[in-house]
Amino acid sequence: MVETIVLRVNPAKPDIGALEKAAQAIREGGLVAFPTETVYGLGASAFNEDAVRRIYYVKGRPLDNPIIVHICDYDQLNIVSSRVPEIVYKLIKRFWPGPLTLVLPKSLLVPYAVTAGLETVAVRMPAHPIALELIRLSETPIAAPSANISGKPSPTRGEHVIRDLYSKVEVIIDGGETLYGVESTIINLLVDPPILLRPGAYPVEDIENVLGVKILIPEFARGLSEAERALAPGMKHRHYAPDTPLVLVESRDYVDMSKLIGKVRELVETYKSKGVRVAVIASSETISNYKDLNVEIIELGPRSNTFIVAKKLFNILRGIDELNVGVAIVEGFEDKGLGLAIMNRLRKASTTRYIV
Ligand code: TXA
Ligand code: MG
Repeated sequence: MVETIVLRVNPAKPDIGALEKAAQAIREGGLVAFPTETVYGLGASAFNEDAVRRIYYVKGRPLDNPIIVHICDYDQLNIVSSRVPEIVYKLIKRFWPGPLTLVLPKSLLVPYAVTAGLETVAVRMPAHPIALELIRLSETPIAAPSANISGKPSPTRGEHVIRDLYSKVEVIIDGGETLYGVESTIINLLVDPPILLRPGAYPVEDIENVLGVKILIPEFARGLSEAERALAPGMKHRHYAPDTPLVLVESRDYVDMSKLIGKVRELVETYKSKGVRVAVIASSETISNYKDLNVEIIELGPRSNTFIVAKKLFNILRGIDELNVGVAIVEGFEDKGLGLAIMNRLRKASTTRYIV
């Protein structure tokens, strides 16, 4: 048990005095949860091995799952990485600060506790005034995974972090709801072709356009297969999961939605006939098709604007366990744009998956 200070900070006009308190905690080897534009992070000085080890302990994080290093300027980039290929500058000039994480050769200064023994380090410059100011005031790059207990959906609001980490970390900065609601896009540019390790808040198509090169999208990035080593979240360990069973219903094309709707309705009737209480999580466009079923209905947002769906996703996944239902059934989304990030999370969170 540690004493946790909760600082409420307005992201539009961050109180430097409050952030200085948090920065001091980082400098002294403490842990600070802070908002980024994607999700909340749980930070420690990237060069303090003991502090980084405590992150794994506090989250219950498997020791083979490396942590992203957050930086506030290009000087810090050259401190954490021993070699930054030219192609990397092409991307970061356009996408930093922002939700793009790049895998680079690590420098000697970065402890293996950060990289889980790898010779590479994942780096990103967050586009959030509180995160950037915290890194600047701490005078060190900050190693930070998402600020949730391992396996739970990432936190998109201060109250999510308080629920998971209160009395476990020195400081929680509550800066309100995060902008994107899904984590950063992770790309490895050290291999040819570049490979997507995790779809995230920047659609991979936008990155390909700037790069002028196709990025390989492996099965695991779609959330489909398990890999031998935990190189991206959920590749080996179950992620984003509510305790309640979650059934995902995908469509082959998302043009004619009648099959998907029919399958969801059929599943609802089957569960209900067994006396199981059901929740349906549906898109704005299809939700009216379930109104007559007399079940708990949650609106995930429009298929025509998946930015909204991504933003609401983790809060809804966290809320499922409070609904008091035996099962939740969720509609799938098309695997393109932000839909790829949404489906990666839903596939990892689901216990059963149908494709119709
Ligand atoms: O948006 C985000 O990326 C958030 C915020 C806090 O910045 N962070 C985040 O961290 O999502 P985390 O730990 O939940 O997911 C980062 C993932 C790790 O699970 C790991 O698999 C991958 O990044 N990663 C870290 N270092 C890596 C490396 N050297 N090579 C390959 N993958 C790496
Ligand atoms: Mg995470």
